[in-house]
Amino acid sequence: MCGIVGYVGPRSALDVVIGGLRRLEYRGYDSGGVALVHDGTIAWAKKQGKLANLDKELAERPLPESHTGVGHTRWATHGPPSDRNAHPHLDAANRIAIVHNGIIENFADLRAGLEARGYEMVSDTDSETVAHLIAEQLDADDIELTEAVRRVVQQLRGAFTLVITDAQQPGVVVGARRSSPLVAGRGDGENFLASDVAAFIDYTREAIELGQDQIVTITCDDIVVIDFDGAAGDVNDFHVDWDASAAEKGGYDWFMLKEIDEQPRAVADTLLGRHSRDGALQLDEMRLSDDELREIDKIIIVACGTASYAGLVAKYAIEHWTRIPCEVELASEFRYRDPILGRSTLVVAISQSGETMDTLMAIRHARQQRARVLAICNTNGSTIPRESDAVIYTHAGPEVAVASTKGFLSQLVACYLLGLYLAQARGTKYGDEIASMMAELEAIPAGIQRLLDDAGPVRELARELSGERSVLFLGRHTGYPVALEGALKLKELAYLHAEGFAAGELKHGPIALIEDGLPVFVIVPPRGRDQLHEKVVSNIQEIRARGARTIVLVEDGDDVVTEYADTVIRLPRAPTLLQPLLATVPLQIFAAELADTLGCDVDQPRNLAKSVTVE
Ligand code: G6P
Repeated sequence: MCGIVGYVGPRSALDVVIGGLRRLEYRGYDSGGVALVHDGTIAWAKKQGKLANLDKELAERPLPESHTGVGHTRWATHGPPSDRNAHPHLDAANRIAIVHNGIIENFADLRAGLEARGYEMVSDTDSETVAHLIAEQLDADDIELTEAVRRVVQQLRGAFTLVITDAQQPGVVVGARRSSPLVAGRGDGENFLASDVAAFIDYTREAIELGQDQIVTITCDDIVVIDFDGAAGDVNDFHVDWDASAAEKGGYDWFMLKEIDEQPRAVADTLLGRHSRDGALQLDEMRLSDDELREIDKIIIVACGTASYAGLVAKYAIEHWTRIPCEVELASEFRYRDPILGRSTLVVAISQSGETMDTLMAIRHARQQRARVLAICNTNGSTIPRESDAVIYTHAGPEVAVASTKGFLSQLVACYLLGLYLAQARGTKYGDEIASMMAELEAIPAGIQRLLDDAGPVRELARELSGERSVLFLGRHTGYPVALEGALKLKELAYLHAEGFAAGELKHGPIALIEDGLPVFVIVPPRGRDQLHEKVVSNIQEIRARGARTIVLVEDGDDVVTEYADTVIRLPRAPTLLQPLLATVPLQIFAAELADTLGCDVDQPRNLAKSVTVE
């Protein structure tokens, strides 16, 4: 949610900043802007809409050469998307340029104070106040930019990352963070600040995680971190284990198509290295002892969007394998209902970005109530794992398309690993049962690859159904979250009305929606000892009898349903608990293809942002 970049070094600051913004555009694309220090003043350009508009503006009105700059790509909160509200924001004298991600909650008071002191605002944003406040400090006292920023952040409430330049201090960029992401990139004779390492991955893979309430000052040769009180700040250096090519489209039209195709790798990499030499499951980043895990008597999974559906799948697996009661809750609802938490509660936060504000606030609340928190996350150096007691990293590599695909599948894998690890620690499954489930998991990448290779008919179906106004998805057990995810993908990517339902709930209401020709996807569970399979077969018959066009996802060799199916999509065999790793894939391909057919921007759907860093 808003991407920000800062640069100091020998290269063209404009090139570095624009290149970085392009990598961060997934965070928001309501407007883009850049500010450069040049000859004692600030040169800037900003434009509503995607970065392509800013590129055009820069081609018509080039900016001067500079080696110190900041940039911003916006997801609007205060003030509608417009040139006027685009960042960077400047003070009246064009001395200070700031870019901001987050929400300054007391901005109305700050703004009123500034106006009373004679300052004039030119935008509707909360962010502009900060530019004036910093300029005011610099005008009043003979202090450096870092000190002015330190004084101002103490007046701010809310969540913010700020990156600032001062025309009178070329070669210096200052950043400050509270609850919104900021990382520093350590180069050779150059340094970087950004919301995410992707922004500077072309230049360095050495990065620094910045902590809560820290201020960082970068120059060509140095990165200095202090806290809001001015004391030296603790920092955590880390090496980024992927390179620039992982953040490129690599010949695909859309990042999402590349990310869907990367899923066999994402699943395999998330499974990699999880066995110790004696065959036991090991999770390096677990950081909770077996004794602590044995004390757990309740698990609450908190997450948003697609990640919350990974949590719903996890509930089935974790309860089945460990017999620990497991609830799943939307992070935005969790904190405000006064949940019952204690030392024996394990709160599991699932987040691809590690920055989703609703999820972050949920874990902060959980830790205040003494619950233990484990994060499942794809982004090293992000806030949620840093603030958790333990973490299982998914190794999906950078996910750039706004709607999650490989992030989701790798979250599922991490959830299964957690469930099996808990079962091992608590002795609710024998070693050979865990080993056999791990072997099933290890076979999944080949199954996904087969689905990708055979995706032609799914794409064709998407093109055929591109004129539909509504699509339904049904599933039971672990097929239910898959149905929800299938519907969400279609809403996000193709702006099409889509609903996912628990198949058993159909008769309690949704069946009224069925009319002649309505496409309904049904995820059929594998045939097993329980009655799950036959119940879903009955549901298919019920909707078919009422005219639905049935599109059935069913495992190889299951021919019971084919006579009630208008279209059959075959899934490789897998246990019911693991089936979501396979069944989700055709639904992702369907949504992406349909969106593309309708001319939608598959990677950057309207109104969305990948990393939602406001509540
Ligand atoms: C946003 C994205 C969704 C994503 C959700 C949670 O809403 O558009 O695709 O599922 O955030 O993101 P997280 O990074 O916490 O997994």
